[in-house]
Amino acid sequence: MQVLSSDNINGRCRIVVLISGNGSNLQAIIDHCSDGEIPAELVGVVSNVPSAFGLERARLAGIEARCLNHREFISRAAFDEALTTLVEDFRPDLVALAGFMRILSPAFVDQFAGRLINIHPSLLPCYPGLDTHRRAIADGAREHGATVHFVTQDLDAGPVIIQGRVEVLEDDSEHTLAARVHEVEHRIYPEAVRWFASGRLRVEGDVATLDGQPLT
Ligand code: GAR
Repeated sequence: MQVLSSDNINGRCRIVVLISGNGSNLQAIIDHCSDGEIPAELVGVVSNVPSAFGLERARLAGIEARCLNHREFISRAAFDEALTTLVEDFRPDLVALAGFMRILSPAFVDQFAGRLINIHPSLLPCYPGLDTHRRAIADGAREHGATVHFVTQDLDAGPVIIQGRVEVLEDDSEHTLAARVHEVEHRIYPEAVRWFASGRLRVEGDVATLDGQPLT
């Protein structure tokens, strides 16, 4: 017989979201959890930046919002150790990085392996890292977009779950392109979270699977 903890008495997936800024992807996940589209409890939001607007979004939604300021730690390892403890205290089934702009240590990634996902503003493997919209325009790319993927030790390179594409228009600026990519992000991230919360999404070896079928 499965024994559920008191916090998880209804067996719903417990989600923690990590942010560093505006939190529009967090908001999309909040909205889909509250309208029942995602069968999950958003139990905590953690930011490494005290001024992150996403913390306010969480509080407004009645979600516990915590800040762990990385500037107050002497090393990446010390910050990641404290972050691991803070996040584990929420007993998450899923940890979703949503504009969390810190590289995580191998120990953190190991701790949450298989339950750690990220959204990245490009069609990976194109444009890992920063300034993705600017680089896509500079390259004359015809297509751009966003990727949700499981997080592994390789930066922006874990198993792909879902991608959303946008056409790059001739008169696009970094700003207009980013705005269209954001719209796509707000569709694909809740979808990936919904799959995970429904028990349909897993990582098996190097591949993400949905209902047991490889996604890539
Ligand atoms: C999003 O575009 C997300 O893809 C990106 O940060 C933005 C956060 O926006 N993430 C990365 O660049 C991670 N490498 P938001 O705070 O409004 O959700």
